[in-house]
Amino acid sequence: MIRAVVTGLGIYVPERILSNQDLERMMDTNDEWIVSRTGIRERRLAHENEATSDMAVEASQAALKDAGVKAEEIDFIVVATNTPDTVFPSTAARLQARISDTPIPGVDVQAGCTGWIYGISMASAMIQAGQYRRVLVVASDKLSSITDYEDRSTAVLFGDGAGAIVLEASATSPYGILSTYLNADGRGADLLALPAGGSRWPASKDTVESRLHFLKMSGNDVFRFAVKAMPDAVEEGLKRAGLTVQDMDMLVPHQANQRIIDAAMRQFGLSEDKVVKNIERYGNTSVASIPLALDEVRQDGRLKAGSVLVLAAFGAGLTWGSTVIRWGDEV
Ligand code: UT7
Repeated sequence: MIRAVVTGLGIYVPERILSNQDLERMMDTNDEWIVSRTGIRERRLAHENEATSDMAVEASQAALKDAGVKAEEIDFIVVATNTPDTVFPSTAARLQARISDTPIPGVDVQAGCTGWIYGISMASAMIQAGQYRRVLVVASDKLSSITDYEDRSTAVLFGDGAGAIVLEASATSPYGILSTYLNADGRGADLLALPAGGSRWPASKDTVESRLHFLKMSGNDVFRFAVKAMPDAVEEGLKRAGLTVQDMDMLVPHQANQRIIDAAMRQFGLSEDKVVKNIERYGNTSVASIPLALDEVRQDGRLKAGSVLVLAAFGAGLTWGSTVIRWGDEV
């Protein structure tokens, strides 16, 4: 059986730091509220002239280098993003032109913060079907471009960043993607949305004046959804891989709120060392939060060849899903 193996991982975060103290000077909020309600202390913000594709280029080049693969050897590009450079063409097309001299097909996937998991699932299926051998799966979001810094209920949450992996086909590797699970319930579509700028509500003087080009979120409703979606994603992903919670070496959850991660930890009786958390330093970076967390545990040596990882996310849509990976890059 052909399986998709992660042969390279790369990330990028902008240099500029926005701390809770900076936010205190900008709006009616305070460090104590932000830390106790979310776990966030600081986040990274891209520069004004730095777009989603610029961050995607950095993360992609790092992943390609890590895999020892040239961009020209990539067969397909998937970019998970909610903040494309432009509504069209795709950020995948812009990324391709920046990293490769030869054409490569590619597509954007838009599935809220679950986008990267959707992208991995699609890439893995393409590889298993024999359609492509090497796929670059990128996550890049510049949420600061759609965050309303006059709305304290959302402004404190989000940051910018990018991550990427190279997935390669192998018929013999003991490592790779063991399962994927995707789900979505559009009844919750308006609970987290960017109202204007699409075909429903095209950009106009009114939409700009009403601040409808910034994301709107019903925080409490999304929170209630998340504490159910996260455990479902973990359980279903493991079930599809023929594994149980006892087999899981590490949970790499979407970093949206420390309290949501802690609730999942308690539900599964997981110890601190089995759950990756870095929300403190990056806030919620949407699609990029899982690759950023993954890179961190690889850097600090916690990620070992053979480790069973569960990557689990939820987000706008509402969407949720997971992928179970046996870590290792041998193909
Ligand atoms: O990846 C995308 C998915 N998104 C999420 O996962 C977000 C899920 N939701 C959450 O994480 C939480 O709902 C929030 C962190 C967004 C909010 O936390 P909460 O505990 O649900 O707070 P709340 O919205 O119920 O607000 C409580 C109070 C309110 O004041 P009153 O009405 O009780 O007087 C808010 O006005 O906190 C106030 N408040 C703030 N105070 C200081 C809201 N934002 C702030 C703020 N600073 N930044």
